Amino acid sequence: MSDTTEDAATAGDGTRAVRAGLPEPVKHEPTLPGPVFAAHFHLPGEVTGPYLYGRDDNPTWTLLERAIGELEAPGHEDVETLVFASGMAAISAVLFSQLRAGDVAVLPSDGYQVLPLVRAQLEAYGVEVRTAPTGGDAQLEVLDGARLLWIESPSNPGLDVCDIRRLVAAAHAGGALVAVDNTLATPLGQRPLELGADFSVASGTKQLTGHGDVLLGYVTGRDAEAMAAVRRWRKIVGAIPGPMEAWLAHRSIATLQLRVDRQNATALRVAEALRRRPEVSGLRYPGLPDDPSHKIASQQMRRYGCVVSFELPTRARAERFLQALRLVEDATSFGGVRSTAERRRRWGGDAVSEGFIRMSVGAEDPEDLVADLLRALDESAG
Ligand SMILES: Cc1ncc(COP(=O)(O)O)c(C=O)c1O
Repeated sequence: MSDTTEDAATAGDGTRAVRAGLPEPVKHEPTLPGPVFAAHFHLPGEVTGPYLYGRDDNPTWTLLERAIGELEAPGHEDVETLVFASGMAAISAVLFSQLRAGDVAVLPSDGYQVLPLVRAQLEAYGVEVRTAPTGGDAQLEVLDGARLLWIESPSNPGLDVCDIRRLVAAAHAGGALVAVDNTLATPLGQRPLELGADFSVASGTKQLTGHGDVLLGYVTGRDAEAMAAVRRWRKIVGAIPGPMEAWLAHRSIATLQLRVDRQNATALRVAEALRRRPEVSGLRYPGLPDDPSHKIASQQMRRYGCVVSFELPTRARAERFLQALRLVEDATSFGGVRSTAERRRRWGGDAVSEGFIRMSVGAEDPEDLVADLLRALDESAG
């Protein structure tokens, strides 16, 4: 079987995930070739060819980049994907390769908690940074004169959603580039390039790889010149993934649709169970029909993610609840097959209440997980 562009564009998500990025079959070779461990490659004579030095390129990255590109923009061979050592490496590569002193960048005020550090660094380099919340498309109000708009939708940890098409149209009208952090949705949940964005950027550490054992990031972009600058940044900074991580990520993508569908369906069940509890407030899950994010989410997302956020009345109650859980680990990050939850305020970064909990729903049986949550809520009441 060979993957034509047409096949990739029309096949179902599961089919595309299991076949994503696979090379043409070679007799007696594995379907997915193993990791290529090489700092340098044989290079007699001229400096030409795809693989010269291990910081610039690697055959294991090439296959992974092809896989991610097929999922982010099926059927679009003109897009380019570059993999990085982490999500932050990918985010920094876009921001620091595209922005110059004097440029204006618009970031979300409620995005991933490392963004304020990025902001400070951009400002130290002479970039003007404006922020506005994700909800209500508030970033529109500070777009004037911007060179780059950074969107995180759904936002982490508040799970607000903005109208990506609307923001892209306004940003492009003013000459700004648009990047979307697609970490929470995964490419099976949302395709930012099809919504008009110039870059889809993500932490592959989360649901894309999904086992809590790999750090990875990527940038997919449509503009060759902009992507050349991102590639150059990767070469300068050297924030590259190891071949083993890249191979593990590619291996994990084969089960992406299975994991995402299972985890996201259970996330909805968890949200439905939590909403019936009187001690739970501020419940957010974009897949809940009455969630404030649902209307826009349903117009631009194909799946709603595995993260559920909610509040318990006090810090002590939230801590007791987390301790009482048996199937849910108290840990940061999200997207893994094992459920995790944490009191987000413990990091100090997010503007959330002391009892705010971000839960990442794993691949456990939904009945077991819901029972564990309800029992822990009961036990933590005292
Ligand atoms: C939305 C979002 N973007 C980016 C990152 C950074 O990813 P990484 O930890 O792989 O650097 C995270 C990490 O939690 C995240 O939640």
